[in-house]
Amino acid sequence: MNDKRVTTRTIIERKQRGEKITALTAYDFATVKLIDESGVDIVLVGDTLGMVVLGYDSTLPVTMDMMIHHAKAVVRGVERALVVGDMPFMSYQVSAAQAVSNAGRYMQEAGVHAVKLEGGRHMAETIKRIVGIGIPVMGHVGMTPQSVHQFGGFRVQGKSESDAKRIMDDAKILEEAGVFAIVLEVVPSQLAAEITAAASVPTIGIGAGPDCDGQVQVTNDILGLYGEFHPRHAKKYANLSETMLNAFKLYLDEVKTGKFPGAEQSF
Ligand code: KIV
Repeated sequence: MNDKRVTTRTIIERKQRGEKITALTAYDFATVKLIDESGVDIVLVGDTLGMVVLGYDSTLPVTMDMMIHHAKAVVRGVERALVVGDMPFMSYQVSAAQAVSNAGRYMQEAGVHAVKLEGGRHMAETIKRIVGIGIPVMGHVGMTPQSVHQFGGFRVQGKSESDAKRIMDDAKILEEAGVFAIVLEVVPSQLAAEITAAASVPTIGIGAGPDCDGQVQVTNDILGLYGEFHPRHAKKYANLSETMLNAFKLYLDEVKTGKFPGAEQSF
């Protein structure tokens, strides 16, 4: 391991020093090379792969084989960031043994440095088992997309007092189970601030307000590269859809009019 590598220890120390943690998703070699060069702390090979790259309408169809295929490309493109592999639906829920085996596969076949899985108290024993064999785990509570049908859509979680308490308790249980960080997704900012203050491990927010210890975003969302849909919590830092469409149209036009290929591109 090289010296400049971000590790789970670096991430925990960031919280202790009050330094914000940055995280972005990635699914391919070319994009992650730029993400890593930007100096991001964590690269998450998210199961949003299913939606933003593979065209499904949820993350549910994503399998371990799909994740490993993309995680291998991501790992090859990263020199500095901590690479976290997202455990897809049904790769860890059946039993702790199944979860340990798939987490191990992720590390052994793709070379990720940690895994992430969704869920609170029901996942505590599974997390203990994975952490117990030396694989760092990132937790994920709030609007956990693999439970979209139970939530009745991608809705804000933790709005009622009882829901907020359940999410707060889940975060504490995950911390006790040994996670090195917890993703808080689409929960009220106030609740995220309270969890962040109570937790000794960092919280990484997405749609969870400004008081989390860090922020994660789906790269395609912040690049404006995911069709018409744009989640409220994502800010567009570029409009790559427009840039790409214009480039494609220009290419087509130049082929049709005989402008491309010119002398420079010909042998
Ligand atoms: O799959 C993913 O991209 C995620 C982030 C939204 C946190 O889990």
